[in-house]
Amino acid sequence: VLIRPKTAADEAACIELMRAVHLTDGYPRYWPADPGRFVTPPAQSSAWVAEEAGTIVGHVALHDAGQDPTLPAARAATNRTPDELAVLARLLVDPRRRRAGLGRRLIAHATDSAARAGRRCVLDVVKESIGAIRTYEALGWRRVDELTLDVGGPAVLQMWVYVGPVPADSSGAV
Ligand SMILES: CC(C)(COP(=O)(O)OP(=O)(O)OC[C@H]1O[C@@H](n2cnc3c(N)ncnc32)[C@H](O)[C@@H]1OP(=O)(O)O)[C@@H](O)C(=O)NCCC(=O)NCCS
Repeated sequence: VLIRPKTAADEAACIELMRAVHLTDGYPRYWPADPGRFVTPPAQSSAWVAEEAGTIVGHVALHDAGQDPTLPAARAATNRTPDELAVLARLLVDPRRRRAGLGRRLIAHATDSAARAGRRCVLDVVKESIGAIRTYEALGWRRVDELTLDVGGPAVLQMWVYVGPVPADSSGAV
């Protein structure tokens, strides 16, 4: 499985992947009115896809932290400015390809890229997303706070906020 930068040509396949994950896992919780904008929002600074024999089987992105709901918790937990943070988001693995290390590889790809840019990763995750929570915790992410998110669905979302492990090459960071 090849992990490579996402291009505009991947959009339809990424939406298809997101639909499979939505139906299987309830992520995203509410199917967005504009799925293209959800999987590739304006705040998305970089994104990668996992491709296997021409099929998109995974996706992960980094979003700017500046306007992100996780920012207050992330700042408090890390003592970093928005420019020194990145939000890991839109992590999706094809339901037929789970527990084969793909999620781990996608997360590493995004966090390594962020670390090279001097950014530490943060994320929010719906409290019911047990598989994702187990994945982050297995990879050393630390729960630092909670928040309530109004995404325009019938109910608000209760989220945990996590910070990623300190990148190996950022000495002195908290
Ligand atoms: C979360 C997700 C990306 C994990 O993808 P994956 O490719 O299955 O993960 P990996 O195979 O790399 O798992 C890495 C480790 O995480 C843990 N883990 C992953 N899925 C788990 C699960 N369902 N239950 C418990 N632990 C799990 C394990 O420790 C695993 O290592 P192991 O298989 O050697 O025991 C995938 O389940 C997914 O797409 N979920 C739905 C979308 C979602 O919730 N995205 C996050 C939104 S914030």
